[in-house]
Amino acid sequence: MNSIHPDQLLESLRWRYAVKSFDATRTVDSITWKAIEQAMVLAPSSYGLQPWKFIVVTSPKIKAQLPEISWNQTQPQDCSHMVVLAVRKSMDESYIDSYVQSIAETRSVPVEKLAPYRLMMMGTVQKMDPESVRSWNTRQVYIALGQLMTAAAVLGVDTCPMEGIDGKAYDRVLGLSNSDYSSVVGCAVGYRDASDKNAFAKKVRFPTDDLVEYL
Ligand SMILES: Cc1cc2nc3c(=O)[nH]c(=O)nc-3n(C[C@H](O)[C@H](O)[C@H](O)COP(=O)(O)O)c2cc1C
Repeated sequence: MNSIHPDQLLESLRWRYAVKSFDATRTVDSITWKAIEQAMVLAPSSYGLQPWKFIVVTSPKIKAQLPEISWNQTQPQDCSHMVVLAVRKSMDESYIDSYVQSIAETRSVPVEKLAPYRLMMMGTVQKMDPESVRSWNTRQVYIALGQLMTAAAVLGVDTCPMEGIDGKAYDRVLGLSNSDYSSVVGCAVGYRDASDKNAFAKKVRFPTDDLVEYL
């Protein structure tokens, strides 16, 4: 594993900002995009359950419908890839079984050996009411969002995380309404437009000493 210098990481993180205007003429090339896609797929989640789907909108026709269901924000239309991170609304036995099956196949372990792990996951889920399960799943989705943005920044690709979206309307447009998944947060991915003054705005963060405590 080749690591990068800490300064390189910080340079990327200071370079990134929540882009307000994307350059609609630029698209992320497929090799770079595939790496960003894998950054989402490789995101960690509790027990590894991956309670998410990532809907990637590149169709101009669909993108054109998004600003009016995004508080009139233009990023979803002008960016290269509009990612909608959707949460799995519930966590049932069959989903957990499909995950156990996936571990068994990937690691060449008999399913029976995974029974204690399966029971542990089932126990966790059965202790929660449906709203708590959904909230737990949603927290996992935000881990993928963070990983997506950091990976993109390291690759010199801009993003804008977007909660300013009408989730129900997104579900309708993306065909999720009658599915097990529901839109949570968007992330526009592409390249900043030269006119975006926010690129030059100083980062506003509380002092590190107020945010980080050492014991
Ligand atoms: C979960 C989340 C949702 C956000 N939603 C929006 C949004 O809908 N539109 C927008 O322009 N910025 C949005 N932002 C960007 C934040 O305003 C921005 O990250 C914050 O002000 C810090 O600035 P920076 O990201 O440029 O460093 C969102 C950020 C996060 C993390």
